[in-house]
Amino acid sequence: MNRSDIQNLDIHQLIDAHKPIQGALLPLLHAIQDQVGYIPSEVVGDIAKGLNLSRAEVHGVITYYHFFRSEAPGKHVVQVCRAEACQACGAEELMALAEKTLGCASHSTTANGAVTLEPVYCLGMCASSPAIQVNDTVHARVTPNKLNQLLRQLEATA
Ligand code: FES
Repeated sequence: MNRSDIQNLDIHQLIDAHKPIQGALLPLLHAIQDQVGYIPSEVVGDIAKGLNLSRAEVHGVITYYHFFRSEAPGKHVVQVCRAEACQACGAEELMALAEKTLGCASHSTTANGAVTLEPVYCLGMCASSPAIQVNDTVHARVTPNKLNQLLRQLEATA
């Protein structure tokens, strides 16, 4: 995601398309994040005005849900599931390993902008825990070796 993506975001078209939907805010935020990878602060006022909400209400929803980002992500996004089933199968160790290997904390991006590391709360693979998602691909039964292998592949394409 980059600045040109934001410039191509037609926020007014998206607002008009979602306005008729009951509870339009969440689907609208999903649509924006699908397009540019995060919810740019520049569009919060337009969203509030378009849906007849206060800026505080929109900001509150964006910050309440872990899923929504307020900052542009790195080139790749690695999400480590930290929900119950994965926690019971080593998710904490996987997150610690990812933080150490990438040199960045959860909810942040490596210094070179290559990888954003995030927690996620259930990827629907509970029976095959622990699970992670790399960009759009879910990986199940992830071992420390497999995680290292996946992270090395990302570094190679960074
Ligand atoms: S708890 Fe991790 S995939 Fe469901």
